[in-house]
Amino acid sequence: MATRSGHRGFAAVWDWMSRHEPRSEKELRARTAGGCRGLTLEFGFGVGANWSFLPPQVDYVGIEPDAYMRSRAAHHERPKTRSFDLRDGDAQALEIPDASVDTVLATFVFCTIPDAAAALREARRVLRPDGQLRFCEHVRPAGRVSGRATDVLAPPWSRLAGGCHPNRRTLAVIEAAGFELTELERTRIGPLPAILGVARPAPGAPQEG
Ligand SMILES: C[S@@+](CC[C@H](N)C(=O)[O-])C[C@H]1O[C@@H](n2cnc3c(N)ncnc32)[C@H](O)[C@@H]1O
Repeated sequence: MATRSGHRGFAAVWDWMSRHEPRSEKELRARTAGGCRGLTLEFGFGVGANWSFLPPQVDYVGIEPDAYMRSRAAHHERPKTRSFDLRDGDAQALEIPDASVDTVLATFVFCTIPDAAAALREARRVLRPDGQLRFCEHVRPAGRVSGRATDVLAPPWSRLAGGCHPNRRTLAVIEAAGFELTELERTRIGPLPAILGVARPAPGAPQEG
């Protein structure tokens, strides 16, 4: 039985925002989720904003540790995927066997997971050698002043936004976890730079950090 833990206020805000997302953000979701194949594991599905973009042939497993997000997701339309399984779970410590997943889907989640590097190492562990990580994430601005501004803003932002950090260098963390990029596009989500891409497990052991 799910424990009632999470960010009640932020889940309500995210639910509203997901239902009123601009077309440009829906397109980013469509391009990220629309390319999933095989057994697909979504990290932190939130209120289920990616579900309508999933191809029907996938077998879907979604994990989400926030009970308020999960209960709001329950009111969203289920996708017509081949199978559909929602779990209370933590991307930093997956209860999923090694090399068993074809796609890991992650949107706007590595900004929030406390230890994004650990979650990415777990993604690499559970992905088959020919599997793919599909991601869309906002990241720290490259400029000295704008980057520093997000460092200063991070603590209050994080308190208001369910643990989100506006200053994560997520691309470097993806590569350090043992992934090679096969597609990468730089875009913006509101005021923040964002990255949209696909990565595959690099051969050999992942680096630390
Ligand atoms: C900004 S929301 C994004 C939700 C969804 N991915 C989307 O694109 O709409 C961040 C999500 O990450 C989830 N999250 C936080 N820590 C997590 C963890 N350790 N494992 C998996 N998900 C986590 C939060 O509960 C929240 O649902």
